[in-house]
Amino acid sequence: MGTQGGRAAGHARVAASILDADAANLGREIRRGERGGADRLHLDVMDGHFVPNISFGPSTVAAVRRVTRLPLDVHLMISEPSRYVEQFISGGADSVTVHVEVDEPKEPTLRAIRAADRAAGLAVSPQTPIEALDPYRGLVDIVMVMGVNPGFGGQALITECVAKIPRAREFLVDRPLGEVHIDGGVNRDNAELLGAAGVDILVAGSALYRRGRDLGREVRLIRSLADEGWAISHGAPRVPRDRWVPVVVVERERAEPIRAELGAIGIPAIVVASEERPATGRREVLVPAPAESYVRARLPDLLPPPVKANLASGARGQSGIRSR
Ligand code: DX5
Ligand code: ZN
Repeated sequence: MGTQGGRAAGHARVAASILDADAANLGREIRRGERGGADRLHLDVMDGHFVPNISFGPSTVAAVRRVTRLPLDVHLMISEPSRYVEQFISGGADSVTVHVEVDEPKEPTLRAIRAADRAAGLAVSPQTPIEALDPYRGLVDIVMVMGVNPGFGGQALITECVAKIPRAREFLVDRPLGEVHIDGGVNRDNAELLGAAGVDILVAGSALYRRGRDLGREVRLIRSLADEGWAISHGAPRVPRDRWVPVVVVERERAEPIRAELGAIGIPAIVVASEERPATGRREVLVPAPAESYVRARLPDLLPPPVKANLASGARGQSGIRSR
């Protein structure tokens, strides 16, 4: 979940698209992205059918996974995502995004991605209205607004696409961890506008991977300009996905009641599988960082009794709390 530990908590995040990186030196290019402070990697898969270009497939995604700990956003520009999605999941994608325009049922693919505990995304090409997403409400964690016609890096942003960003935000209103990505044509000249429109993740390819470019400086510029834009039109940044903190680890069946109790007092909470190793099947409850101390102070009241309550032991409300 956390990306660049210790970095100031702005809102915008930059995903480095390696499409225009030096493919003969991919490992080196990825390290360049990491050192430059990119928050994610964005991997463009093209099949020469859905788009006129061919890039790479699951084996490259798996190879990238082996050399970086950055989250991997896999963007499938392919006609039959259902056929290959499992390979991208097992290759280590953290999110998989498919195009809403593909001519096959999208719902099973989105569900398969979710079932594997990865974020599921839908991408919207420039000529597609945002309403095309409507049938998939509740199934999507990422809306990827295309800023260019998919297929090639290095194109100019089609500015009409920017108006889709606030609509994409509305579409994700019920998903506290939902993300709006803008993909294609992003650079320092339009980052402020994109931030003001409410984007969370700015995907940048040729703006970063260009000969002679200081990639790190470009990442910082894009991110901070987007944050400036966000602050102008939205005020204080909303708590981004990597600023959620775990407050308690409990048995699976106890997590939902805690989430409901927190929701009832106005604190959004999410439940994720615990990262304990070996796997325990327990759940972590996460809350936004600013709410952490308040929630911790109230935790003993919020924790429902264990299934077989043994209150006499005095352990209630303590055993699960993670020492940090
Ligand atoms: C376009 C790809 C983009 C592309 C972005 O089809 O989906 O991710 O790599 O490249 P730039 O930033 O150069 O537009
Ligand atoms: Zn892309």
